[in-house]
Amino acid sequence: MNILVTGGAGYIGSHTCLELLQAGYQVTVVDNLVNSKQESLRRVQEITGKPLVFHPVDLLDREALDAVFVANPIDAVIHFAALKAPGESVSQPLRYYHNNVTGTIVLCQVMAQHGVKNLVFSSSATVYGETNQPPLIEDMPLSAINPYGWSKVMMERVFTDLHVADPAWNAILLRYFNPIGAHPSGRLGEDPNGIPINLVPYIAQVAVGKLPYLRVFGNDYPTPDGTCIRDYIHVVDLAIGHLKALEKLASNPGAIAYNLGTGRGNSVLEVVAAFERACGKPIPYQVVARRPGDLPISYASPSKANRELNWFAQRSMDDMCADVWRWQSGNPNGYE
Ligand code: UD1
Repeated sequence: MNILVTGGAGYIGSHTCLELLQAGYQVTVVDNLVNSKQESLRRVQEITGKPLVFHPVDLLDREALDAVFVANPIDAVIHFAALKAPGESVSQPLRYYHNNVTGTIVLCQVMAQHGVKNLVFSSSATVYGETNQPPLIEDMPLSAINPYGWSKVMMERVFTDLHVADPAWNAILLRYFNPIGAHPSGRLGEDPNGIPINLVPYIAQVAVGKLPYLRVFGNDYPTPDGTCIRDYIHVVDLAIGHLKALEKLASNPGAIAYNLGTGRGNSVLEVVAAFERACGKPIPYQVVARRPGDLPISYASPSKANRELNWFAQRSMDDMCADVWRWQSGNPNGYE
């Protein structure tokens, strides 16, 4: 089976390409490299010893995307390609909606033209908005607090409505909680542009000395240590979830959502402590004001994915931090 992976050079995309190749799939990647490096794909091929096909294509370029489908027989699509910075989306809503939603519509149109109607979609726990109480469950009402989040809600809606109009369409909507970690080889990991906005990449850059200290956004939340609680999930567990979703597509499930999380929460200070154990040195931090839009507590119920995809998160917080440290210390400047 040949899988088209959009955004395959990115953090979650590259880890998923690696698992796909190791499981015997053929892989075709399209990526516009706006927030990723082709070096990640070179390393995926090096680690697996297997080739993949790469096209530097933007989903908004319909003709170029069509040419990819003409050149490669595609059986199913895993769709990661999207902009993903919530803060940036507030100041650039049109860019986010155009890139994420229009890009997805172009992808679906080109897929339909080529008779490809099976897709796994990279959604996010952000679609649960701010009023649902954890553990978060797939049938809760969806909402969002920024254009990035709304673009994920809209893209989920596109796939749901496509299946209503044409039952031959199947879309597995994977709602990721907080992906962290790196491939245990130390050769693949998260390589954000500029200063990281997410917690663990920030801590990792403090640990290698690229940033002076972590700012902890608030310690007056209603949690045991006062810092926010999130459901951190190892990127390799997440990647394996996509393979389970591909298998599920064979049963014509329609448009269906699954949480990919561990079902357990860790506070910011617990993550700092785990990272200190992994890297063997203290992570200096200062508590600063809350970050607007942060929820006090977010964690999944992964029961539906456990039951229906036979998927279970297996890697611990200590595994996640050890793998991030191996990646960051071996590649202090990412893929450069
Ligand atoms: C964020 C996004 C979410 C997106 C996800 C994936 C926000 C509000 N949410 O999730 O929509 O789907 O990333 O990219 O941006 N923290 C610090 N100091 C830091 C960075 C983070 O204390 O320098 C804290 C945050 O307050 C939060 C936790 O660490 O409690 C995790 O933050 P982060 O890694 O940014 O993820 P989320 O905010 O959960």
